[in-house]
Amino acid sequence: MDKKKTFYITTPIYYPSASLHIGHAYSTVATDAIARYKRQRGFDTFFLTGSDEHGQKIERKAKAAGITPQQYVDDIVAGFKDLWKLLDISYDKFIRTTDDYHVKAVQKMFRQLYDQGDIYKSKYTGFYCTPCESFWLDRQVKDAGGVCPDCGGPVELVEEESYFFRLSKYADRLIQYIKDNPTFIQPTSRTNEMLQNFLLPGLEDLCVSRTSFTWGIPVDFDGKHVVYVWLDALSNYITALGWGSEDDSLYRKYWPADVHIVGKEIVRFHTIIWPIMLMALGEPLPKQVFGHGWLVLDGGKMSKSKGNVVDPVQLCARYGVDAIRYFLLREVPFGSDGTFSNEALIARINTDLANDLGNLLSRTVAMIDKYFGGALPAPGAAADEDAMLIQLASELPARVDAQMDELHIPDALAEIWKLVNACNKYIDVTAPWLLAKSDEGRERLKTVLYNLAESLRIVGVLLTPFLTSTPQKLFAQLGTADALTAYDSLAWGGSAPGAQVHKGEALFPRIDAEAELAYFAAEADKAKATLEAPAPKEEAEEEAPLPEVEYDDFAKVDLRLAKVTACEEIKKSKKLLKLTLEVGEETRTVVSGIKQWYAPEDLVGKTVVLVANLKPVTLCGVESRGMILCASDAADETLSALTTMAQMDSGLKVR
Ligand code: ME8
Repeated sequence: MDKKKTFYITTPIYYPSASLHIGHAYSTVATDAIARYKRQRGFDTFFLTGSDEHGQKIERKAKAAGITPQQYVDDIVAGFKDLWKLLDISYDKFIRTTDDYHVKAVQKMFRQLYDQGDIYKSKYTGFYCTPCESFWLDRQVKDAGGVCPDCGGPVELVEEESYFFRLSKYADRLIQYIKDNPTFIQPTSRTNEMLQNFLLPGLEDLCVSRTSFTWGIPVDFDGKHVVYVWLDALSNYITALGWGSEDDSLYRKYWPADVHIVGKEIVRFHTIIWPIMLMALGEPLPKQVFGHGWLVLDGGKMSKSKGNVVDPVQLCARYGVDAIRYFLLREVPFGSDGTFSNEALIARINTDLANDLGNLLSRTVAMIDKYFGGALPAPGAAADEDAMLIQLASELPARVDAQMDELHIPDALAEIWKLVNACNKYIDVTAPWLLAKSDEGRERLKTVLYNLAESLRIVGVLLTPFLTSTPQKLFAQLGTADALTAYDSLAWGGSAPGAQVHKGEALFPRIDAEAELAYFAAEADKAKATLEAPAPKEEAEEEAPLPEVEYDDFAKVDLRLAKVTACEEIKKSKKLLKLTLEVGEETRTVVSGIKQWYAPEDLVGKTVVLVANLKPVTLCGVESRGMILCASDAADETLSALTTMAQMDSGLKVR
């Protein structure tokens, strides 16, 4: 017997620093759909997910919660597993980086790299971003305007003895590898980003150990160091398969990975540090790293006060798992950023799922029931309009494969919906209710209903990797025998005449969009009221006039035009927004207490007036370099940021 071809696919291992949200569900559901697709196509598939449990961020969170890091992560990781169960994630293994076998393998790897001279001891002086667990060079932080180039948050100055990994030694080999393997980094645009932004400017050796905290894998030959969390995390992809342990049979079977699915912000780690680690270890490189885009929310960020219900558990409870899986897989081109909104979700459920697919099934089953006593008729008289439908259904598997093999998941679903929609049109054109009226028409009606049921069976089989309970419900209503639900039974004409259909519940009940959106709006108002209950206003005092000043005094204030290029809420604060400003050539972060009056998206793109030489202050952990001018009434009931009457360049002086 032929050995089955293997397919190894991974998700990122997520930080258990908080519960997972719809963005994490997005990566994992997409990976699950690909894994299920490969299994359905006969591949011996291994699907890995897990949790990335070490590092400074987790240590600090646990401390703040007053528990040990292990207790902290145990609780959150249990929630990860519950969520994956709820979403029907078919992973083959869940790795925790606190698992003993992983700890041992990472220690072995570190020692091997040290023994062969690829890791050496020195001293690190530079910046560190704890939320991203990233080291940054002076120039990178400077170019980003004094903040983390990835998340725009504050960075900390770190000075400590560290081990370093000789990335520089392997840089040329990696550049060559990327050039020789144009599909290694996907989508292709990310290849250029990696080459231009990171590899071609020159790679510096990477700091790979820390001494200022302890929640990590100890370097076994130098106990005061713990392994840098990204080295620890990336190795999960091979330690999970037994690399470095006594039994590495899975490693020998499945490595190299066919694809690592990751979010675009961590492509850098996966296409620079990870391949170089593997090169240094003498191991093969993964075949592909696919960086998908971000799911952003209505209005830019996930926020209860905006009424965006983004907890996947709540969404599944409200609409069902398959509706959420369908939305995540269908809405956004895989690789691009996209928006999550309640409106879009409801529209997808009502249009694609309830109307197009759900109604098609219930109409087909109802007609077989009504006209043929529930037994699938054998096809009778044929007509021209059948040929197109049959051709579409027969070609569909190849069309779906062509999209899925490029990881174009939404396009694969769109192909399936072409058949769904063709069936709906076929009903309009053939008008079965008229055919039922004559004997001749009834002969034709047999064919029409057979073709509809057979098309739906094919839709069900092809949907199996994407939706996990809908295909079974569909087969149950059509009375499809198990053998006819398999991929190799897809050839047209498989359905056996005589099969008994069963009327069932609607696959996807239609949602009253207006009522649902009103519900969300009310929830949002409630949340807003709790979050922003205003403190009782004191009687506004009359402001006393200020003394006169000389022009020279006024001129000491450096007022500049600045353009808001990004803006986000500071989660911990009810009042503060964090603005990223372009001031001529410079980029700055300014924290402003105007959340009550502006949503972040109201400000992006606006030109504001900046007090550029105000002493920096740190607010809620974010360094604010300057202040933007606003006019307000004495009681602060109304407020407006100042801008210019004409469009002017940022950086210009205001005087
Ligand atoms: O980065 N849209 O873990 P993490 C789409 N532990 N995807 C999103 C998303 C959003 N809004 N938010 C998160 C880490 N994700 C490291 C990974 S791997 C060796 C170590 C997804 O918990 C996306 O896949 O911060 C992103 O890369 C990942 O979650 C980040 O998860």
